[in-house]
Amino acid sequence: MCGIVGYIGKQDATQLMVNALRRLEYRGYDSAGVASIHADSLKVHKRAGKVADLEKLLRKNPGKGSIGIGHTRWATHGNPNDLNAHPHTDNSGEIALVHNGIIENYQSLRKKLLEEGYVLHSETDTEVLTVFIRSIYDKINDLAEAVRLALAEAQGAFGIAVISTLEPDKIIAARRGSPLLVGIGDSEYIVASDATAIIQHTRQVLYLNDNEMAIVTSEGYVAKTIDNEAIDSKIHNLEFDLERIERGGFDHFMLKEIYEQPSTFRDAFRGRLLPQDGQARLGGLIPVVEKLRRAPRIILAACGTSWHAALVGEYMIEMLARVPVEVEFASEFRYRNPVLNKEDVVFAISQSGETADTLAAVREAKLKGATVLGIVNVVGSSIARETEAGVFIHAGPEIGVASTKAFTSQIGVLALIALFLGRMQHLSQRDGVAIAMALKQIPEQIQYILDRSEAIKTIAHKFKDARNFMYLGRSFNFPVALEGALKLKEISYIHAEGYQAAEMKHGPLALIDEHMPVVFIATQDEIYDKVISNIEVVRARNGSVIAIANEGDSRIAELAEHVIYIPNTIPMLTPILTALPLQLLAYYIALERGCDVDMPRNLAKSVTVE
Ligand code: AGP
Ligand code: GLU
Repeated sequence: MCGIVGYIGKQDATQLMVNALRRLEYRGYDSAGVASIHADSLKVHKRAGKVADLEKLLRKNPGKGSIGIGHTRWATHGNPNDLNAHPHTDNSGEIALVHNGIIENYQSLRKKLLEEGYVLHSETDTEVLTVFIRSIYDKINDLAEAVRLALAEAQGAFGIAVISTLEPDKIIAARRGSPLLVGIGDSEYIVASDATAIIQHTRQVLYLNDNEMAIVTSEGYVAKTIDNEAIDSKIHNLEFDLERIERGGFDHFMLKEIYEQPSTFRDAFRGRLLPQDGQARLGGLIPVVEKLRRAPRIILAACGTSWHAALVGEYMIEMLARVPVEVEFASEFRYRNPVLNKEDVVFAISQSGETADTLAAVREAKLKGATVLGIVNVVGSSIARETEAGVFIHAGPEIGVASTKAFTSQIGVLALIALFLGRMQHLSQRDGVAIAMALKQIPEQIQYILDRSEAIKTIAHKFKDARNFMYLGRSFNFPVALEGALKLKEISYIHAEGYQAAEMKHGPLALIDEHMPVVFIATQDEIYDKVISNIEVVRARNGSVIAIANEGDSRIAELAEHVIYIPNTIPMLTPILTALPLQLLAYYIALERGCDVDMPRNLAKSVTVE
């Protein structure tokens, strides 16, 4: 969580950092702040709220200098107020630090520092680390070394950037568990927690790995491990375009990303589908083909929306490849000592590639000797780098906190993987061709749904004041019910439950009355009739039914108050199409309620703390 930026070069650091913080804001928006050094003096501007609030502060009192650090916070320790905002400084105001993560042993460090006579003003773990660095500096007079020694004692997760008037020509950046990269420009360097803050200035980047640090000056940088070992740092090229991280005429990133889905879906299988052979070509899996062929079991580990995509993946892979699949919450996987065999294959699914729980699951599975692969969006992210092989979903940067396009692309890639594995096992070419043909039609079918979004706006208006919502689906669409409910909860703050439609009668039915809108995903597959019976049961209790149904389904209109139609596809691909109206419904309801769609309260884009 949280966005970090640091700049050293010739430009006005504050202005550049504020622009970068705007791009990083999706990572956390509890507070924003910058620190810069000018004429041997360190100035800190910070306040609770969004980057726009920081800008107001800076308008009255601008920052100066061409070296600085900045932060947008997602609070873990202490309220989101001015005092707890980053950057934090040491007691003499000479060292400033920004931090992403959690210092787990901050209580014991705090106690020690207080005993030594240092003062702590905020409730954060971050201030403790800053003052701890100062306490070491006081003994050794070397900033980089003080940072290094402090971090060697710190437990937990961090990405940090440090500047100081004591050594005003450098930024010290380090990471363990939280992402950090260094953009390399022409006599200027930008440290940031993700590439969106860098791309405007340079495409050349150095990714820091866990337990690595960089000492960056305007002349260059030295990278090493926190254990003081030299490292071989490789420069990478960023490969996405600036316009992909702009709103491009849409009111919100979320809406833009929903509308991008015809093209992002196409990108997910560009060059990977062989329709004539009914096969998928997944270059990223070639190094592990034999392991995949022999795998007695596949485990899909993920969180949130990616976990919902994994559930769809489970159904698809089991159906096509007849291999047992287990879907794990990455956060549980690590701590319950999972039974893993060396022959098992684990796929970690993550949009950001930085989710701490999923990364921890990757490491746990590697430790146990399983083959660990990634299904990731962000190239260069920690999960992409730490997995043995994998498949990128190529959805482009996803900025809206509520994940949309990544979900459909994850399902697309999981469909390709299911096809690939299926064809290696029992799936016939004819069946493979049918799946490939259906996949090829999906982008136009997505467009068809998007072109009819007006009807969804009307439904959103009608139900905007509902206090609760229920989403029901079965088979492939059960995970979509979960996802629809998650989208609504996240951005409109309406309580919503996703349920397996048939399970409803085992308890949640008690919640149904005339105040409960129930969204049914009722596409025509082999259990359509059962879903229709489930709808009857809800109607008999006066629930308002909104149905997602196939074009041409005349029966459903008699049962549901509102019907949103989607084009016909094969059952396993319906989740891609049924997810769209639910994304739009959540979006329009949130809009009606005046919610901040792209920055929902309490959330942030990627959860890099456990
Ligand atoms: C989705 O809308 C969420 N904001 C969240 O559940 C997200 O999917 C989850 O944190 C996992 O993120 P990842 O895919 O980047 O690992
Ligand atoms: N733990 C720190 C805090 O609460 C950093 C949180 C963050 O990653 O934004 O301030």
